[in-house]
Amino acid sequence: MHIESATQEQLTEWEKELSAHYDKICQHELSLDITRGKPSAEQLKLSDKLDGILSGDYRAADGTDTRNYGGLIGLTCARKLGAEMLQMPVSEIIAGGNSSLTLMYHAVVTGYLFGFAGNTPWRELKAPKFLCPVPGYDRHFTICEQLGIEMINVPMGDQGPDMELVEKLVREDAEIIGIWCVPKYSNPTGVTYSKETIERLAQLGQIAAPGFRIFWDNAYSVHDLGNYANLPNIRTATLENDTADSVLQFASTSKVTHAGAGVAFVGASQANLDSLKSQMQAMTIGPDKVNQLRHSRFFTEYTSLTEHMHKHADILRPKFECVLEHLHNALTDAAMGAWEKPEGGYFVSFNTLPGCAKAVVKMAADAGVKLTPAGATFPYGRDPDDSNIRIAPSFPPLEELDTAMSIFVLCVKLVSLRKKLGKI
Ligand SMILES: Cc1ncc(COP(=O)(O)O)c(C=O)c1O
Repeated sequence: MHIESATQEQLTEWEKELSAHYDKICQHELSLDITRGKPSAEQLKLSDKLDGILSGDYRAADGTDTRNYGGLIGLTCARKLGAEMLQMPVSEIIAGGNSSLTLMYHAVVTGYLFGFAGNTPWRELKAPKFLCPVPGYDRHFTICEQLGIEMINVPMGDQGPDMELVEKLVREDAEIIGIWCVPKYSNPTGVTYSKETIERLAQLGQIAAPGFRIFWDNAYSVHDLGNYANLPNIRTATLENDTADSVLQFASTSKVTHAGAGVAFVGASQANLDSLKSQMQAMTIGPDKVNQLRHSRFFTEYTSLTEHMHKHADILRPKFECVLEHLHNALTDAAMGAWEKPEGGYFVSFNTLPGCAKAVVKMAADAGVKLTPAGATFPYGRDPDDSNIRIAPSFPPLEELDTAMSIFVLCVKLVSLRKKLGKI
């Protein structure tokens, strides 16, 4: 039954029926969680060979004793892995610790306190601002919020951010000093930026303030579920536009090997790397090179990155299929929401009818299914339509996900009906 074409009586009857079903489920006292995009235990196990792979041989190929201090920019062999993930030359990569988010935070702080490549530090501006394609990744927004950098929403389309708006805003306001981008299998929409979007982003450096930087968080560069989505190379595009300094790229092995014990990378022009290094050298003597060497050996002696990611995809694919099947079966004919079918990454982005997301999340929580808080995918936690919910299928076992999704779609239906009936 379609929510728009059903009669008032039909809607009332439908709501009564689903409410009774919901009340029964609440008695089961479930505790299910589809909040954060964490790899499952089965996925983590794929990389357990990291443990012991060095067998007491701590020397890197270039002779570095990885147990000792030093090597601010990381081991060359680890930087090669970053270069493969980001499709950049090794000379433009720094291999750091376990988290790309830390490197992003570090990069924002560098721009804020010291400025990149001799440009004005952002803290000296009256109102420094970042553009935030929405829905987006909550932790990007938290970095800006913590530093008092204002955030401006830019809608995401199926080709990437609305570039018309991005260009207009950047032209009009010289205090826009950054934009967050997750260019492949975007968190949470799953969109991969088109060639045209990337070419236009690469030209921003010509119209934006000199200190403007694109934060290119390529967290899902190798995380294909089946078909391989081709992401045009932004570095190449910036070189063609003489704007190479306008981009900072990030990636990590968090969702490749062990999420809490991987290696993270930042890739950038020499001028940007110099700015990052000058701050880093006050902060650390060097990263965990033992772990970097373990990763390098793992991906040369044990498996290739491509082969390894295929194994992840085999585990993740049925979980994504489960989510999409529930959404399709329960909601397509009813027209009670819209969602994307991602070809990779870690999320399914779901839009309820306007004004329903918070109520769905609460209703699911009351039935024992924890979802990412509604609004989390927007700066300041404010979704103007109260509509977007991020579903993260990776962590729970398939049976639990199946149960969680059946409750999720039930809550979407109930909230949509109650909204239509004017009950909420
Ligand atoms: C877009 C995006 N960037 C970064 C991260 C975190 O990366 P890391 O573990 O390297 O800090 C995540 C994790 O969910 C993410 O979705």
